[in-house]
Amino acid sequence: MSIRYTDSLDGITPDHLRGGFFEGWTRPLTPEQHLRTLKGCSGCLLAFDEAGGMVVGYITVLTDGVLSAFIPNIEVLPAFRGQGIGSELFRRMLDRLAAIPNLDLMCDDDVRPFYARFGMRPLGGMVFRRTDITLS
Ligand SMILES: CC(C)(COP(=O)(O)OP(=O)(O)OC[C@H]1O[C@@H](n2cnc3c(N)ncnc32)[C@H](O)[C@@H]1OP(=O)(O)O)[C@@H](O)C(=O)NCCC(=O)NCCS
Repeated sequence: MSIRYTDSLDGITPDHLRGGFFEGWTRPLTPEQHLRTLKGCSGCLLAFDEAGGMVVGYITVLTDGVLSAFIPNIEVLPAFRGQGIGSELFRRMLDRLAAIPNLDLMCDDDVRPFYARFGMRPLGGMVFRRTDITLS
C-alpha cells in the first residue's frame, strides 16, 4: 500500500472522494460538497492511495492563526482503518498547528482513546446540530 500525504487539492475532483466517506451520517455530504468543505476550511491534509487513485483519508482545520484551531473532521475509509493513516494525518496536523495553543474538536465517547494517545483531554462544550437546514 502506497499512501501519499498532501495538503494540496490540485487535481482533486469529486471522483477522488467517492470511496464512501461520512459513514453512518444521517446526511452524508456528496463528494461535491465534501470537496467544497476541503476548499473552504483553513487547511486540510489528504491521504491519497496511489494504487487506487483515490482519497482514503482526510483531516480539516479551521483556525484564527493565533490562538485557536478547531478540527471539524478526520476520517479514514473503513477498508483503510487500523493501518496508522488516521494517526499520521492527526500527527501531521498537530505539527502544522504547533504554534496554536488551543486545539478543539468534538467526538463521540468511543473515539476519545484515539485522541488521548496524542495527549488531548476531555472538556465540555455546547453545539447546534441544525438538521432542518438543507446543505447548499
Ligand atoms: C478515528 C479514525 C480516523 C482513526 O483512523 P485509523 O486510520 O483507523 O487510525 P490508526 O490506524 O492510526 O489507529 C491508531 C490507534 O487508534 C486506535 N483507534 C482508531 N480508531 C479508534 C476509535 N474509533 N476508537 C478508539 N480507538 C481507535 C487504533 O486501535 C490504534 O491503536 P493501536 O495503535 O493501539 O492499535 C477512523 O477510525 C475513522 O475514520 N473513524 C470514523 C470517523 C470518526 O469517528 N472520526 C472522528 C470524528 S471526531
